[in-house]
Amino acid sequence: MSKKSLNWAVLGVGQISEVVAPAIRDSGWAVPYAIASRTLEKADGFARRHGFSRSYGCYEAVLEDPAVEVVYNPLPNWLHCEWTIRALEAGKHVLCEKPLAEDMAECRKMIAVSRQCGRALMEAFAYRFHPQTATVKELVSRGSVGELRLIRSSLGFPLDFTRPNVRLKPSPGGGALMDVGCYCIHVMRYLAGEEPQAVLGRSQGVAESGVDLTFGGILVFPGGCLGLFSGSFQTARDFQLEIVGSRGRLLVPMPFKPDPTHSALRLEAEGETREIPIRNGGDAYRLQVDHFSRSVLEGRPLSLPLEDALGNMTVIEALRSSAQTGRETRLVPDG
Ligand SMILES: NC(=O)c1ccc[n+]([C@@H]2O[C@H](COP(=O)([O-])OP(=O)(O)OC[C@H]3O[C@@H](n4cnc5c(N)ncnc54)[C@H](OP(=O)(O)O)[C@@H]3O)[C@@H](O)[C@H]2O)c1
Repeated sequence: MSKKSLNWAVLGVGQISEVVAPAIRDSGWAVPYAIASRTLEKADGFARRHGFSRSYGCYEAVLEDPAVEVVYNPLPNWLHCEWTIRALEAGKHVLCEKPLAEDMAECRKMIAVSRQCGRALMEAFAYRFHPQTATVKELVSRGSVGELRLIRSSLGFPLDFTRPNVRLKPSPGGGALMDVGCYCIHVMRYLAGEEPQAVLGRSQGVAESGVDLTFGGILVFPGGCLGLFSGSFQTARDFQLEIVGSRGRLLVPMPFKPDPTHSALRLEAEGETREIPIRNGGDAYRLQVDHFSRSVLEGRPLSLPLEDALGNMTVIEALRSSAQTGRETRLVPDG
């Protein structure tokens, strides 16, 4: 009989591990097997809370455990490359948190190791697995707003600057562009269905550590659509996705954390406004765990290929460079 589920292990007891653990537990294709923390007591508590059967006081122990089949890597961004590569080389499949790496060079290394080792690797953009996102894509593709002209997206929240936070570490992986801007870039590339040919970026409010706190940018798509976005640690909660075409616009209130039970898109086209409900779409994190496990078990390609992660990082780097030079960065040569 063919195998029906995979043993998952989580690295680190952090904010997002607490959210993804129930998704692993609730998936029909994943077993909550092991948790590793730098502090064994933290791992023990996590294992009890979420029903994991093994807890370890160091990350190496997960790699040495032959029963572990999938490693979920939600470590700080500067540890994504190192621990993903170590896990792949230990023969594990890896779901790694966004952004996959700190820069394109790390991204390329991770992709090469995944291919050499014949193990699956995916960047964790859970919103892509929720039916709301598929509905938005379908509406845009079938011309519900006419010719695509503008995609506006923002993701912001007020970060507590009185406490240490991995997002503020002075490293290429720190800052708002990397942490939240990456979502806006991801969804704009997906909906435009192509890569931008040029970008313009601007950062504001640089923290003591030197990382950007608010980042705004423009993506110029060759098909004639402009993407406008902002990512921030300094605003009130600001989650937005708006797609504007030649004949109408589509508003998506919770684009990156769709509600598991009910959400509603708003389509305004040719003088009419229509609510499009998405009922019982499910938990995006569980859908992501289902997809990753099933793809590995059934030998099917992942719907977020590694080229997509490299494409996102290419745009992030170009935006970073534009913010530094104060000029537009071209991604394809003029011609
Ligand atoms: N997909 C999403 O919705 C989503 C949401 C939030 C964050 N994320 C991503 O998930 C990753 C982690 O974010 P988070 O908010 O969960 O961070 P966090 O709460 O700070 O957790 C990170 C964990 O990494 C471990 N760690 C290892 N070395 C560390 C070091 N030198 N400094 C700090 N922590 C260290 C710690 O676990 P131990 O002490 O147990 O070893 C820590 O709890 C980031 O890549 C972020 O972009 C994704």
